[in-house]
Amino acid sequence: MNLQDYLDEAAAVEREGLAAFAGAPDLEALETARIAVLGDRQGRVKALQEALRTIAKEDKPAAGKRFNETRSRLEALHSERKSALERSRASARVEDLTLPARRAWRGAKHPVTLVIEEIEEIFRELGFTVAQGPEAETEWYNFGALNFPPNHPALDAHDTLYLEGEGVLRTHTSPVQVRTLQTYPPPIRVLIPGTVYRRDFFDASHAPAFAQVEGLCVDEGISFVDLKSTLNRFAERFFGASRTRFRPSYFPFTEPSAEMDVQCGICGGTGCAACKGTGWIEILGSGMVHPSVLEAAGLDGERYTGWAFGMGPARIAISRYGIPDIRILYDSDVRFLEQIAQ
Ligand code: PHE
Repeated sequence: MNLQDYLDEAAAVEREGLAAFAGAPDLEALETARIAVLGDRQGRVKALQEALRTIAKEDKPAAGKRFNETRSRLEALHSERKSALERSRASARVEDLTLPARRAWRGAKHPVTLVIEEIEEIFRELGFTVAQGPEAETEWYNFGALNFPPNHPALDAHDTLYLEGEGVLRTHTSPVQVRTLQTYPPPIRVLIPGTVYRRDFFDASHAPAFAQVEGLCVDEGISFVDLKSTLNRFAERFFGASRTRFRPSYFPFTEPSAEMDVQCGICGGTGCAACKGTGWIEILGSGMVHPSVLEAAGLDGERYTGWAFGMGPARIAISRYGIPDIRILYDSDVRFLEQIAQ
């Protein structure tokens, strides 16, 4: 081999070797590259050393010098790359791979939504479908058709936000009773979840916008027995085997009317903070649909009878999960929501 060819070959070995070492992604790859370049048996540096023998005597010093440079540069870069890879492997090991993975918060259903869905599920099994109606209502649907006499004190509890023109924000889901009765012929069994609005202060137990779930059952021959047995069945399913009681009440659109309480599941009826010492938790208002509501919806109030109820799922969520303040349900604080989320 003449000197020029040898020098060219040395330059090529050096260039390719340096590239192989620099490009090795890990220690294993670096070792493979080392064997190919610096290996004692088949390495390219070894071949370069062997080739020295074929160089003419007068050219040997120059060729030998180039060979030594090549080998030492390659050895230097190899050991530099090796320690860099070892350092990064060591720092990777600082991470404890046995630690549980950090769970990503992917979002979940709100506690009130969970309660509504569970209520829907129980009533679905009892033959109820789900209906919905508008949140911006007319006064007729919200009050008139529901037998609220004008200026009656019952209106006070339903003080609401009046919209421009003749609309109101509905104060309860009961107007959807009328809308359903106008749309579908009996037999009717519907559950009506939705948001309602009242001119209430935002405090520990009130909010100006909140969810309600209404139920309505209308057919021929429906009696108060159907109301009690269906609602008792619901309470049994939702709260577990727990006692209920019906207290006489008043709503313009039901007659007779009753509030239903369930025995407090936290103290078992002896009285605690959750039930304010009474042993009972009020969960809904109910009653037999007033004939004038059926008539307002265009039905024969002599032929058909029915019952209805309305409950507040936020109140139910509060007693079920032991939430001290209703406002927490509106805060969107993930630290709280996460504890109940499913
Ligand atoms: N709409 C009533 C309220 O919001 C609740 C209710 C519904 C009562 C159906 C009886 C029957 O207070």
